[in-house]
Amino acid sequence: MAKRALITGITGQDGGHLAELLHKKDYKVYGIIRGQHNPKRIVVEQEQPYVNLIEADLTDGSSLVRAIETAQPEELYNLAAVSHVGYSFKNPQLTAEVTGKGVLNVLEAIRLSGGEKTIRFYQASTSEMFGGLDYNRPGKGYDEDALFHPRSPYGVAKLYGHWITKNYRESYGIHASCGILFNHEGPRRGLEFVTRKISNSVARIHLGKQDHIELGNLDSKRDWGYAGDYVDGMWRMLQQDEPGDYILATGETHSIGDFLELAFKEVGIDDWKPYVKQNPAFMRPAEVDILLGNPAKAESVLGWKRQVDFPGLVKMMVQYDLGIETKRST
Ligand code: NAP
Ligand code: GDD
Repeated sequence: MAKRALITGITGQDGGHLAELLHKKDYKVYGIIRGQHNPKRIVVEQEQPYVNLIEADLTDGSSLVRAIETAQPEELYNLAAVSHVGYSFKNPQLTAEVTGKGVLNVLEAIRLSGGEKTIRFYQASTSEMFGGLDYNRPGKGYDEDALFHPRSPYGVAKLYGHWITKNYRESYGIHASCGILFNHEGPRRGLEFVTRKISNSVARIHLGKQDHIELGNLDSKRDWGYAGDYVDGMWRMLQQDEPGDYILATGETHSIGDFLELAFKEVGIDDWKPYVKQNPAFMRPAEVDILLGNPAKAESVLGWKRQVDFPGLVKMMVQYDLGIETKRST
């Protein structure tokens, strides 16, 4: 019998990668899609026809109960969220409802449908919960015991999701695990995140469709990995006999300038500075200056290791955007 998995956030970057991974492992894959006129429905239907879409919303608990009753999953991956940090400052209440309380709604739906003992649950926690103020405390970046100090409405909402997941594990014995994932990117990344904004703009500049990029804070540093590697870590967490919390990261940190340098070099431009303008509109009221993760626990317990390195990631993204922008007329 094929295993059954339900993914919230199926239309997002990680949802796409995870659905592909589980399909290759012969799972029957269900995905939650929200909204009356979601343009991403057609994309999933065409590119991932093996996904069984169910209409539901993280803010509507009854829709989640029905989704679980339809999918009857052994594994439930909660990837849905308001996930853009900048957007969360502009829409903090929505962020709290979806990214925070939405997690509670999914956990309650598991209980209401009698799935406490049969459904393994993955919560998409984040390095944003650490806030970057104390990144070097253990000497090798944040580990699972580091202190939390979220610096955005998104980070605060995610921290609620993290703790309510741990609470339901301790209170009701749900096999619930939190993956504390550092930034992971790739060709499926939304254009509003900095790496994809850069890779797409570099391709467009190379093709003469655009003459510069407008960015906010160029000084922040991130621990950037490839999303395809990270969904494998999510799956590994749910295959463990016992639930737990794990950091997935590369153990390296790079600045936005490092990303710009490699991306522009990919199209033969050595000096990126003339092509980049700073625009205060992309600055945030509070910033996470630096993130660096320590994936030692995931490597030893899960046997997980990232495969794509930083230069490989930048190259993959720029080459992908060169491909799509060459085909597009504008
Ligand atoms: P993403 O591309 O922004 O996808 C977010 C998904 O959530 C989309 O499918 C979106 O649906 C869905 N969603 C938003 N509001 C919803 C609602 N009210 N009900 C149901 N679905 C809703 O995010 P991602 O990069 O794949 O990340 C996946 C998860 O990991 C997120 O929870 C994110 O916060 C977390 N995370 C990501 C990273 C990273 O670097 N990528 C790192 C750590 C943690 P629509 O398409 O309809 O908007
Ligand atoms: N998005 C964006 N757009 N960010 C910019 C820009 C810009 O034009 N200019 C500079 N930045 C800076 C941001 O201020 C931030 O310091 C850094 O680039 C990375 O921004 P994002 O790519 O938006 O990612 P993030 O680190 O804020 O959040 C992502 O990673 C988190 C894990 O640490 C998201 O995927 C979150 O959902 C995830 O939890």
